[in-house]
Amino acid sequence: MTYTKRQIKINHWPEKKDKEKEKYPKNSETIKLIVLTLLLSFSICFLFLILHFPFTTEFTASIPRKCYHNFTVYVYDLPKEFNIGILQNCRHLNIYTNMCPHVANNGLGQPLYRSGRTSWFATHQFIAEMIFHARVKNHPCRTCEPNNADIFYVPFYGGLYASSVFREQNLTNRDELAVRLVDYISGQRWWKRSNGRDHFLAIGRTAWDFMRSSDTDDFGANMLMQMPRVKNMSVLTVERQPWKGDNHFGIPYPSYFHPYTSAEMVTWQDKMRRVDRPNLFSFVGGPRKGLEKAAIRDKLIKQCAESSHCELLKCENGGSRCHDPMTVLGVMARSRFCLQAPGDSYTRRSTFDAMLAGCIPVFFSPHTMYTQYLWYLPDDKRSYSVFMDEKNNTHIEQELLRISESEVVQMRETVIDLIPSVTYAHPNATNYDLPDAVDVALEALAKQARDKVVVSL
Ligand SMILES: *[C@@H]1O[C@H](CO)[C@@H](O)[C@H](O)[C@H]1NC(C)=O
Ligand SMILES: *[C@@H]1O[C@H](CO)[C@@H](O)[C@H](O)[C@H]1NC(C)=O
Ligand SMILES: *[C@@H]1O[C@H](CO)[C@@H](O)[C@H](O)[C@H]1NC(C)=O
Ligand SMILES: *[C@@H]1O[C@H](CO)[C@@H](O)[C@H](O)[C@H]1NC(C)=O
Ligand SMILES: *[C@@H]1O[C@H](CO)[C@@H](O)[C@H](O)[C@H]1NC(C)=O
Repeated sequence: MTYTKRQIKINHWPEKKDKEKEKYPKNSETIKLIVLTLLLSFSICFLFLILHFPFTTEFTASIPRKCYHNFTVYVYDLPKEFNIGILQNCRHLNIYTNMCPHVANNGLGQPLYRSGRTSWFATHQFIAEMIFHARVKNHPCRTCEPNNADIFYVPFYGGLYASSVFREQNLTNRDELAVRLVDYISGQRWWKRSNGRDHFLAIGRTAWDFMRSSDTDDFGANMLMQMPRVKNMSVLTVERQPWKGDNHFGIPYPSYFHPYTSAEMVTWQDKMRRVDRPNLFSFVGGPRKGLEKAAIRDKLIKQCAESSHCELLKCENGGSRCHDPMTVLGVMARSRFCLQAPGDSYTRRSTFDAMLAGCIPVFFSPHTMYTQYLWYLPDDKRSYSVFMDEKNNTHIEQELLRISESEVVQMRETVIDLIPSVTYAHPNATNYDLPDAVDVALEALAKQARDKVVVSL
């Protein structure tokens, strides 16, 4: 077996159409006219079709999703200041980045390919709350009748709010919107049914950003998740606080694939089963300065750089290749194992990118995955991942070479089988009957709510 660093082309990834991109904005009036004409002729053809053909089951242009589950979810229609109103300030929602391109398309961000309908987007890592909202709004199990709802979704864009006030020195002001949200929701009639126990938030940032422990600054955190009324709710977050977060439930970070149909998902999974993986392992990431929990990163980068079986995509300040989704997924799809070192916090978006690319994750902390995403993972950790204790100073390459080929194939198959449930399907998906990240979360919440009702009877 030889390992080389040759580049492989994954031909199911749509190619960039740069020429078309240049052409596109030339004459928007003409384009509008053409589009209008096309639309008109399509509608005429469509009418013709409907009038002349009986409506058979073969006419499957788009089948809306069905509610296969035995639950209903009610979505609060919050005052705009708690969600979409926050987006008006999108240039200043994050101290590092202009978020305007990222909040587009209901949080999917910018499409990676301009031509036609695409399921690939440059999705921001901390935007799950917007995608979640869009998915639940279109969810087949949604009810507009709170009377018989099993669970209540409070669509607060808490992550975007948190990052927008990181630098607010006055702590009263920093917490203000969170306090107002909690006052608002706990004043609603349906809250009183079970003191908020059947209510939930979905937040696209880590719990640490909402758990300011004292009156000291605590890296810009606010106190949303410390409020007693919020502790009565379920809080879905991309990273739960492993020790104090009894009411926190991990949800996946969004990756770049948001398919419209199950068929697209199945095609992608097949592609990842068959793709050639010349690298034993790879690491995508940068060093972190002065963070103890990230000390492991320097060791990993060193080990990867010294191994001829490892592909390293090093992200230094402004390392733009690291932010190019297809470059990142390309490295992962060429690798059998993907190292997942803790970064600024325990979890990484990169874990979900790796799974999407069918790459078996290697963890160095149990809090990167195992204590986080319990709704989404098999009990048997070894069936889909490798764990190396960071204190053991493991020789990674030797350790990975010890795993037999058949075991690798088996583990990869498990990872690839997990892709649909850790993916956020396109909010407008049709012909899509695989449970995605939002379906899994709603079902788990409904089950929880039902169990609690039973207990209290
Ligand atoms: C759905 O759940 C309710 C209780 O929550 C139960 O009464 C009902 O029979 C269930 N329906 C189905 C189809 O399972
Ligand atoms: C979904 O469809 C609606 C209505 O056609 C449209 O307004 C919205 O932009 C679409 N969402 C996305 C993310 O494309
Ligand atoms: C913080 O702001 C509030 C009102 O917005 C004000 O009443 C309070 O005095 C401020 N606190 C400090 C320490 O400046
Ligand atoms: C939380 O729920 C419990 C039991 O349902 C209730 O007794 C308690 O008052 C609630 N706490 C708050 C702050 O509402
Ligand atoms: C770390 O080393 C200890 C002692 O040698 C061993 O028992 C343990 O299994 C190792 N852990 C991992 C994850 O390799």
